[in-house]
Amino acid sequence: MVKIEEKTRWGSSTILIEDGLLAKVGTLLEKEYPDSRFAIAIDYNLERIYGPQLRKLIPNALHLVLPAGEANKTMGTVIDMAAKMINGGYTATDVIIGFGGGMVTDLAGFLASIYMRGMHYVAIPTSLMGMVDAAIAGKTSVDYIAKNILGTIYPARLVLIDPGFLKHFVENNRMPGLAEVVKFGAIHDETIFKDLEAKKLNLMTLIKKSVSAKVEITGKDLKESGHRKILNFGHTFGHAIEAATHYMYNHDQAVSMGIVIANRVGQKLGLQKPAIGDKMKSALERFGMSTELPPNVRIDDLLEWIKKDKKRKGNKIPFVVVPKLGQAKIIPMTAEEIIKLAR
Ligand SMILES: NC(=O)c1ccc[n+]([C@@H]2O[C@H](COP(=O)([O-])OP(=O)(O)OC[C@H]3O[C@@H](n4cnc5c(N)ncnc54)[C@H](O)[C@@H]3O)[C@@H](O)[C@H]2O)c1
Ligand SMILES: [Zn+2]
Repeated sequence: MVKIEEKTRWGSSTILIEDGLLAKVGTLLEKEYPDSRFAIAIDYNLERIYGPQLRKLIPNALHLVLPAGEANKTMGTVIDMAAKMINGGYTATDVIIGFGGGMVTDLAGFLASIYMRGMHYVAIPTSLMGMVDAAIAGKTSVDYIAKNILGTIYPARLVLIDPGFLKHFVENNRMPGLAEVVKFGAIHDETIFKDLEAKKLNLMTLIKKSVSAKVEITGKDLKESGHRKILNFGHTFGHAIEAATHYMYNHDQAVSMGIVIANRVGQKLGLQKPAIGDKMKSALERFGMSTELPPNVRIDDLLEWIKKDKKRKGNKIPFVVVPKLGQAKIIPMTAEEIIKLAR
């Protein structure tokens, strides 16, 4: 079992990664919270697949079954969950478990942070996106008017990662979340590219390295004042593409395109050699990710969205480029400057 400890201003998290960890969750939770009751936030898809097994592993837990999909990451869903917990007599000394992809863990973490001023929270991410990104470092959120507008920072006390959840994704050679793994390789740990080239993917290694990268990067910069912004690599354009296409492309595909454009910007700035960008592009393509803008989107169409970037300071956007694999650099630029270099 791999154990990663994360210390933050808001408390510490223990992240456990092990193939087959799901079978042990009952014992682990009982040990950590002997006197608490459990509520499990889970979406319909996962309830169908894992609901019966969870009822055996964590008997008597209240299942808060949510409609699946980003469109339901709303305050309405949070309020429905809270109502069920109040009816069930849950208090702040009880535990909410977010079991699912990033949508579920974002919602469960958010509710945990506000329910009776904060209750215990455990995350069991089931998607690669959840394992390497959404369930790590404590950002929780709900969409309101735009994506992730309402949120808190509330790290899960325990993050239980079982790569076994991803087996069927591996068989299809298409795994949402892989663009984030490529991102971690690009900005922090170049050895990830070797792992991505291997004939048989070692998920355990990829997840461990990605989680460590996120923990090390956020640990250096808890207030998001500086270094943490490198996590935005590929996301300036990724978010713009998502918004411009009305979320027709999922986050992963949009970030994949965004990484390729960020590399073009880096090369035009004279900061990156083409071979570096090519390495990222071939890793993304190997896993079936888009590396070209959709035919109906032109770079110039993205200007208005880049201008709205949440990370902007005044009119400058901290644009992340990767001069060398494993090293990132932040270049503050205006949206117009960025678009000009991205053409
Ligand atoms: N808090 C953060 O720091 C952070 C970081 C990155 C992403 N996010 C958020 O994460 C969300 C995206 O996460 P996601 O890509 O996991 O999407 P998701 O949670 O919407 O899940 C996508 C689909 O996959 C299904 N699914 C999940 N695990 C499965 C499994 N093991 N087997 C079968 N089906 C499974 C779900 O039921 C759902 O239908 C977004 O809302 C995003 O804002 C948050
Ligand atoms: Zn992302």
